[in-house]
Amino acid sequence: MTVATLLPYGRQTIEDDDVAAIAAALRADHLTTGPTVARFETAFAQATGAAHAVASNSGTAALHLAALALDLGPGDAAVVPSVTFLATANAVRMTGAEVVFADVDPDTGLLTAEALRAGIARGRDKGWRVRAAFPVHMNGQVCDMAALADVAVPGGLRLVEDACHALGVADIGACRYSAAAAFSTHPVKAIATGEGGVTTTADAAMAQRMAELRSHGMVRDPARFADREAGFDDGVANPWYYEMPEFGWNYRLPDILCALGLSQLPKLAKFQARRRAIAKLYDELLAPLAPVLRPVPHGQAPHGWHLYAVLVDYAGLGTTRRRFMEALRAQGIGSQVHYAPVHAQPYYARRYGALDLPGAAAYSGRCLSIPFYPALGDGDVRRVAQTLARLVGMAAFA
Ligand SMILES: Cc1ncc(COP(=O)(O)O)c(C=O)c1O
Repeated sequence: MTVATLLPYGRQTIEDDDVAAIAAALRADHLTTGPTVARFETAFAQATGAAHAVASNSGTAALHLAALALDLGPGDAAVVPSVTFLATANAVRMTGAEVVFADVDPDTGLLTAEALRAGIARGRDKGWRVRAAFPVHMNGQVCDMAALADVAVPGGLRLVEDACHALGVADIGACRYSAAAAFSTHPVKAIATGEGGVTTTADAAMAQRMAELRSHGMVRDPARFADREAGFDDGVANPWYYEMPEFGWNYRLPDILCALGLSQLPKLAKFQARRRAIAKLYDELLAPLAPVLRPVPHGQAPHGWHLYAVLVDYAGLGTTRRRFMEALRAQGIGSQVHYAPVHAQPYYARRYGALDLPGAAAYSGRCLSIPFYPALGDGDVRRVAQTLARLVGMAAFA
């Protein structure tokens, strides 16, 4: 029997010119912070409609920088949907602020205005200053930002979009309703730099602060030196001198990876077009499998098509998710769960106790991401759909 090569649920698309871009960066003067960082940031801002873009070394760092720039800290709290990657909640905790886990829509996995309102109330009941919310554009679906802002703004909250799944969707990055948007350039994302992240904002002061926090909080502008004696010699700024007015991190994205990002960014539209075409084909091929297996409903709204997720009624099929995933794997088809509810992670369950979030349980209990990336061929898509149809056609799993 020939074993088919495994189709992963997602993967990067690296072409020869990407490799050449990295090679050129390796031969250049700067391996770490050189001119390519600013070039990548400018290109990223253009691609997302952002006024400012600050590159960092992960989507997690991009979220953390945004949380820091909002001055979140002990005594504060931020609302985070429970269906997300650990990073969204962890970025809040890294500041010392508490996380209020909110429920999500059971079919889309998205934070809703009602769930945000309930989260704010729950956080305030605990005595926390609920100062921010981090909606997540799950799978590339776009949250109803206007509706979330209608709840957040009167409540005095700032919004930070976790846009790690949503690079290339409409003008996400322009931050029309939010203080900032955080992106990831991890390999399975819309473009890849290996590890990498970018925070966009419309606020110039916030962008500058995030850029400083990314590098230990260092400031080299003589106009801001507090120690005049150390900073100046005969009234002239010391060229070697810098100051650290506030505590920061090393979240720098090196020139080498910015070069890869610069090479990948112009391909975003091409990648998105292919993702849309694959999604359309999956939609058609999988439609007959409803209701036991159906795509996460995605309507007409702009969609980033980061992941293609289906909702499966495993019990109705007489199976479990493990057995279903193993049956797919036996046919060379990878799949993954995005995501188990974060509030139930042992760390968070210990910290905040058990929470009843039925939407999160319903979404997480059924979701499954199936192979989805630009290099996936139509033949692969058909094979995945046929395999799913065969599995769903089985009354019970052995
Ligand atoms: C929704 C979401 N938020 C945040 C992150 C964190 O990004 P990174 O892995 O680049 O730190 C990810 C990445 O997997 C993600 O999917």
